[in-house]
Amino acid sequence: MEDLFASLRPRTVLAEGAVWLPGFALPDASALHQAITDVSAIAPFRHFHTRMGPMSAAMTSCGACGWTADPSGYRYTRTDPQTGLFWPAMPDALRHFAVRTAAEAGYDGFDPASCLINRYAPGAGMGLHQDRDEGRPEAPVVSVSLGVPARFSFGGLTRNEPKRIIELLDGDVMVWGGASRFAWHGVSRIRETFHPQTGAMRYNLTFRAINVALFRP
Ligand code: SIN
Ligand code: FE2
Repeated sequence: MEDLFASLRPRTVLAEGAVWLPGFALPDASALHQAITDVSAIAPFRHFHTRMGPMSAAMTSCGACGWTADPSGYRYTRTDPQTGLFWPAMPDALRHFAVRTAAEAGYDGFDPASCLINRYAPGAGMGLHQDRDEGRPEAPVVSVSLGVPARFSFGGLTRNEPKRIIELLDGDVMVWGGASRFAWHGVSRIRETFHPQTGAMRYNLTFRAINVALFRP
């Protein structure tokens, strides 16, 4: 069945530098789930509060730094503001998966400093944004979807350009770099559906290379 889906949903170049790899993570799904469990045992999922209020997706991170938000802005910190501990190290299974996946998408030598893990319950989403806090414009973002489906909008370099709407399923990977590194993207509110591994939840892993000079305590 999975093979059938893979053949019906071929790998697709969405724009220069941006590729959708349907089902690419399926063989690694159980290792990825285990890594999420291990990371979140040390750095629990939480809802950051921004100027706009609490984010609907719960988040955690692993690696040399982690993405954090508060009403004053966004940044990458070496420590988890909730626990005061360093973010957990990136599990090897995650790092190797990310490096292999980036290479598959045409980006050799990917060296992710951090993996941001988003957990979406039904009704959660993520507004249109660009990933631009990393200071490494030559490195792609590698994004993996696990669990229930999501409607992902992928646009251009300006906010109002037309967007492709993609249904991201369990195991789908999106990689955007090069001319698409600063493409606007977002996730519509997750619908109430069921996945045998995750129940009603969707998880998303995004791997990012980050300029060390931008790491905050
Ligand atoms: C993100 O842009 O950080 C998350 C994307 C996703 O959940 O698919
Ligand atoms: Fe993003």
